[in-house]
Order: sequence, then structure tokens, then C-alpha cells
Amino acid sequence: MFSLVFLMLLVHFSLVSPQSLSTDNALHVKNIIILAGQSNMAGRGGVINNTTWDGIVPPECRPNPLILRLSAALTWQEAQEPLHRDIDFTKICGVGPGMAFSNSVLQRDLGIGVIGLVPCAIGGTNISEWRRGGILYNQLVVRAQAALHGGGGMIRAILWYQGESDALDPEDAKLYKKRLKKFITHVRSDLRSPLLPFIQVALASGGAYVDIIRKAQLEIDLPNVRCVDAKGLALQPPDNLHLTTAAQVELGTMLADAFLQTMAPLPVRSSAPQRFRNIFLDLLLRLLR
Ligand SMILES: *[C@@H]1O[C@H](CO)[C@@H](O)[C@H](O)[C@H]1NC(C)=O
Ligand SMILES: *[C@@H]1O[C@H](CO)[C@@H](O)[C@H](O)[C@H]1NC(C)=O
Ligand SMILES: *[C@@H]1O[C@H](CO)[C@@H](O)[C@H](O)[C@H]1NC(C)=O
Repeated sequence: MFSLVFLMLLVHFSLVSPQSLSTDNALHVKNIIILAGQSNMAGRGGVINNTTWDGIVPPECRPNPLILRLSAALTWQEAQEPLHRDIDFTKICGVGPGMAFSNSVLQRDLGIGVIGLVPCAIGGTNISEWRRGGILYNQLVVRAQAALHGGGGMIRAILWYQGESDALDPEDAKLYKKRLKKFITHVRSDLRSPLLPFIQVALASGGAYVDIIRKAQLEIDLPNVRCVDAKGLALQPPDNLHLTTAAQVELGTMLADAFLQTMAPLPVRSSAPQRFRNIFLDLLLRLLR
């Protein structure tokens, strides 16, 4: 009798695999992704001489009903390029990595459901301007909280592409690692998600001290912080500071790879059923002995 109950429980827990849990949730949980940093996150792909966007949207960046964007007015709308048009509004925005990232994630994991992008990047900003309590930091937190408002959403990651401005000065470059670590720790704490995946981009361009910044980015040793390397991706002439549209598509795919890796183990969800399963298996084996 008891063994029958245990057998049924065992079968139940064995069937509820982490995969099917995530698929069930996907139908009503919005995957919120925060986009932050400076111009290459805001997107300058296809912007000519800082004055006009060519309007070219490659297939990888096309709208999709499953990709939403939180506007500056804090409303959800179907996302389309340029994602930062009403956020980094004093500049001309073009293509960034956000749409290519989202389409790439959906292409490989349709079960993930809706992606809710929260653009927060502002061109030309340095890491000090992103410190806790500053305008940019507060705006990020307010927008992230607005994205969660009403439930039905979960912040899945911050995508971060920043540091070109700090590569102009040797002192700022030297302090970058410490400042970035502080930013990550603070933002995770204020979003009440101590292990929130933080996926950053190692710079493709920047001032004279760019290698010091890149080293800091590649070496950061906090849990669940990943780094994708943009070095070698195509830059737009004449200033060679900003990724081209094609390069942003490549970067979006790289960010999607890194993001899907953070999704794979789902430690909180998968370990609990696993532990219970082992207890039941243990009991069952003992009863059958
Ligand atoms: C961009 O600016 C450069 C000079 O800075 C000029 O030679 C070039 O024609 C400009 N390109 C366009 C498309 O306006
Ligand atoms: C575009 O803006 C950047 C700063 O974001 C500046 O360094 C660059 O010289 C500008 N390019 C042109 C062609 O005006
Ligand atoms: C960062 O940017 C701000 C605003 O442009 C500037 O005042 C500041 O000197 C920059 N650098 C540091 C280290 O704060």
C-alpha cells in the first residue's frame, strides 16, 4: 500500500522535469531583460556621421509578437528598432544588440515565451555616472520595477555594454574593475536578485586605455557574471567607435548564447524536485527490500 503511494509519487516527480516546469511557466511569465550601458548598447548600427539612421533592419532584428519593449512612458509595446529611440533620445539611435538577441533566443527556445526588453542605455556615459543613487542607476531600477509591476514577469538578465568612456583616462581605466563590481553588486541587491545573470560585453573600441578596461571585463570573478568579447567585430567608419548593424547582429547572437547558458541549469527549480525524487527513491527501495 505504502509502496504504491511512493511509486506514484516517484513517477510524478520523475515526470516533472525542469524542462517541463520552465515550459509551463513560459506561457504566462514574461522574461524581462534589462539593456544598459552606453552607445553600443543603445545602438548606432546604421547611423551615419551621428546624424541619420539608414533605417535598414536586417531579418534578425525584425519585430516579433513575442518581443516587447518597455517605452519611456513605462508601457509595453511590440519592440522594434531603434529600441532606445525614446531613452537615449538626445542622440540618433540605430541598431543595437537587443532585437537580434531576442530573436536568436526565441529561435532556439520557443518555449521560453514572451521577452520583455527594458532599454536603459545612454550614449557617452561613464561607469561613475551609473553609480548607485545616480540618475542613470535610479532610472534603471525604476524601469525594472515598472517592468515587474502587475506580476507576470521575472527579470532574467542584465545585458551590459559600457566602458568606452572610461577608457579615455588612465585613472578611470584603473578603477573600472572596482566600480563595475560595485555596480553589479548594488543593482542585484536593489532588484532583490542576488544572483541575477549579468552578461557584459568586452569592448571592441574605445579610448587609449581600452585594454585595461577589457582586461577588467574579462577577469571579473563574480558568480553568474559572463562576458562575451566584441573585439574584432566590424566598426563603422569614419570614427570606428560603433559596431555596424551586421556586427550588432553577431553580438546579439553571442549574448543569446551566453544567456541560454545561464538558463540551462535553473538551480532553484531543478534541485528541489531532484532532492525529493532521491528521498522517495530511497524510501521506495527500502520498502521493496
Ligand atoms: C560623413 O562625414 C564625412 C566628414 O566627416 C564626410 O566626408 C562624409 O561625406 C559624410 N557622410 C555622409 C553620408 O554624410
Ligand atoms: C560621433 O560621435 C562621437 C562621440 O559619440 C565622436 O567621437 C565622433 O567624432 C562623431 N563622429 C562624427 C563623424 O561626427
Ligand atoms: C564621468 O562623466 C561625468 C559627466 O560627463 C563627468 O562629470 C565625470 O568627470 C566623468 N568621470 C568620472 C570619473 O566621474
